Amino acid sequence: MSPEIAVSEESPLEAECDALVVGAFQAEEGPGLTERGRAVDEAMEGRLRRHLEAIGFKADPGKVVLVPTGGAVPAPVVAVAGLGPETEAHTSQVRRAAAASARSLGHAAVLGSTLHSDGPEGAAAAAAEGYLLGAYRFTSHKTSPPANKPSRVLFLQAGAAEVAKGVAYGSATTLARDLVNEPPSLLTPETLAARAVEIATSGGYASKVWDVDALRQDGFEGILSVGRGSAHPPRFIRLDYEPPEPKAKVALVGKGVTFDSGGLSLKDARNMETMKTDMSGAAAVLGAMSALADLQPQVQVVGLIPATENMPGQDAMKPGDVIKHYGGTTSEVLNTDAEGRLVLADALAYASEQGVDAIVDVATLTGAIMVALGGKCTGLFSNDDSLAQELQIATEKEGERNWRMPLFDDYASELESEVADIKNIGGRYGGSILAALFLRKFVGKDIPWAHLDIAGTARSDSASDESSKGGTGTATRTLLAWIEDRG
Ligand code: BES
Ligand code: MN
Ligand code: ZN
Repeated sequence: MSPEIAVSEESPLEAECDALVVGAFQAEEGPGLTERGRAVDEAMEGRLRRHLEAIGFKADPGKVVLVPTGGAVPAPVVAVAGLGPETEAHTSQVRRAAAASARSLGHAAVLGSTLHSDGPEGAAAAAAEGYLLGAYRFTSHKTSPPANKPSRVLFLQAGAAEVAKGVAYGSATTLARDLVNEPPSLLTPETLAARAVEIATSGGYASKVWDVDALRQDGFEGILSVGRGSAHPPRFIRLDYEPPEPKAKVALVGKGVTFDSGGLSLKDARNMETMKTDMSGAAAVLGAMSALADLQPQVQVVGLIPATENMPGQDAMKPGDVIKHYGGTTSEVLNTDAEGRLVLADALAYASEQGVDAIVDVATLTGAIMVALGGKCTGLFSNDDSLAQELQIATEKEGERNWRMPLFDDYASELESEVADIKNIGGRYGGSILAALFLRKFVGKDIPWAHLDIAGTARSDSASDESSKGGTGTATRTLLAWIEDRG
């Protein structure tokens, strides 16, 4: 359960809460409290500042120190959260400080937060995101879950609209995390589709789900082929957000492989361990779509999710098979573990027919992107410089990270097939680029398209900053910021 985020008119000197959170900037001469922090320090007769001095507190983002107030204000303890240098003030620091405070204050039920005070524009929204992300835990399958603390965060003297925006972004991300963390026995293509329809219903969006018969009828052979080895049949999911006066229309496509065993090109045990994560692109798209009803951007959004398991069952697709994708392009399957591109091919070809101004796909597509960029940076590929730049701006706003990768035309010769239009693997090197080049073949001519390879960023081995252990919900907030910037 996420903490409830509320707005209060009260000052930090009067708010009844279990802990107060105040920010501090780092300066040459030591930490400098924000204006609300100084008010608390005054009430404490300078004890707060002396405490920080005595312990040599360095106000780096992510650092938090707890100081007892001794009854000087109603809150028994004040948490001083580092914001870094004031000259470099950015919402990312505020988000990080809020997340770290939520983690440090697991004993406190109600927090009073002043982290938005003296902050850059958007600080209140970033703080709300940070509290939701830092307090996140996945406990649905624990028989004795830990107490839900903090359970409530009061934003003291903050703007309600801005806080609500942060709550929308934060909740979208925790929804994505929940979907990723759910065990694959429970989150199958069918149940993912059911969750998507629930999200559509509660947001008031239209939705459509293709079952196997419908997939056959409409020629989605990429999705069908990958799903053939599984006892849980595949689905294709479409959600439609339609504002009254849209300024643009975009498609979001999320890879929804609910479990990737590799298929007949089976993964080894270690590499299979985390493969429930392979629907993180779908989770980001669903998370983002879930928030549109609240944020109401004037952009029409079509959410598309090819959902399937990749299993080696008796009817599994085989190396050597040829697939006729949605739209007619054929591909030769030489490695059944390169399945993401096969299902995305259908979805991208379908998206290209929807009259959209741009397509963004999000996918845990290649292990190679981790080799290239490590575990904390998404790979961004695009056929359009301004779309790529828009996404960079959105990413930067949301404190996520991505790096533009090239789509070298001549590399595509590695994907030439003897028997089909393209084959699904190339040589040993540049695997993420080859995968992106494969996808590009299915994007309609002249449609701006971007591909986010989140194989490295979708999951984390440890909790740090606003990122949690397990599914991170990465790209959810970037998609939202991008859509809001467009509308
Ligand atoms: N789902 C994987 C990519 C992946 C790897 C995601 C590690 C997260 C962590 C994808 O379907 C895959 O298996 N890709 C292969 C492609 C190869 C066979 C060309 C890979 O990266 O090894
Ligand atoms: Mn695979
Ligand atoms: Zn996969």
